[in-house]
Amino acid sequence: MNIGVIGCGIIGSRMARNWQKAGHLVTGWNRTRVRAEGQGVPLVDSPVELARRSDVIMMVVADPPALRTVVADLCRTRLDGKVVMNASTVGPHDNQQAEQAIRAAGGEFLETPFTGSKGGAEAAKLVFYVGGDSALLKRMEPLLMQIGHKLFHFGPVGTAADAKLIMNMMLANLMQAMAEGFVFARKAGLDPATFLNAYKVNAGYSALADMKCATMLASQFETHFSLKHMDKDIRLSLERAHELKAACPLTERLKEIFSEGMAKGWADEDFSVLYRLADTK
Ligand SMILES: NC(=O)c1ccc[n+]([C@@H]2O[C@H](COP(=O)([O-])OP(=O)(O)OC[C@H]3O[C@@H](n4cnc5c(N)ncnc54)[C@H](OP(=O)(O)O)[C@@H]3O)[C@@H](O)[C@H]2O)c1
Repeated sequence: MNIGVIGCGIIGSRMARNWQKAGHLVTGWNRTRVRAEGQGVPLVDSPVELARRSDVIMMVVADPPALRTVVADLCRTRLDGKVVMNASTVGPHDNQQAEQAIRAAGGEFLETPFTGSKGGAEAAKLVFYVGGDSALLKRMEPLLMQIGHKLFHFGPVGTAADAKLIMNMMLANLMQAMAEGFVFARKAGLDPATFLNAYKVNAGYSALADMKCATMLASQFETHFSLKHMDKDIRLSLERAHELKAACPLTERLKEIFSEGMAKGWADEDFSVLYRLADTK
């Protein structure tokens, strides 16, 4: 199959390479071309050129403005017979607007936000949350399972974006809880290794703790998922919570904490840099 990947950043570049390994002809487009060069994925100069070469297009860009830009670019050409998926984390209305535009250009649309981070993308072990038509999902599932290993269909377009935002809101709060706890433990004079070993058998331990605690304690914040993208997700989740009148007081406070981290110039570091922020108090 001819697959086009729009947005060859941390995740998009890995999706593209895994589809190549599965035998597809993959083309990439990245706004800043130089950042995506040298990864073994042939690049084109515009989303329109990518659309013309692809049967299936996956968008993995930063945020809602980026999504609007690439969808508008894609829709400069007809998309008849093509399927466009969006894996970027955006709000439900962003994906609904994208669906309308893609359909008006003749294409089909599926929202496919995911979880699994850089490691999951590298190992083709992403978990997809899907919103959209069941029959279209059935056609796309084999492709998604070549870059992921689990999939949850939530309903129509918009439902998977809600699920993704809520999951990330919970993850961000958990990350902050761990950052505070580990700094507190060190200030209490507890041995970090003993505390971590005890945490590993505590009910509060999680896959996120498994991913982040060791590197966080070593003050290593190599980016798997950036502070700026989690900051964006917190803002999007709060916007949606306000719309639905869902009370999220912890996350309201967390938004301010993320703003402090962003103001320190840590936008491109991993979001576990919250530990360094907790340590500066
Ligand atoms: N990393 C993770 O663990 C993870 C997990 C779940 C979901 N996500 C979501 O997946 C998406 C991509 O994440 P990532 O970690 O791969 O981010 P990334 O490495 O920062 O890549 C972002 C991509 O978006 C492009 N982009 C940004 N603004 C744009 C614009 N206005 N127009 C066109 N392209 C634009 C960037 O192009 P340039 O190179 O030109 O900047 C880059 O290709 C985000 O929505 C993120 O929230 C990430």
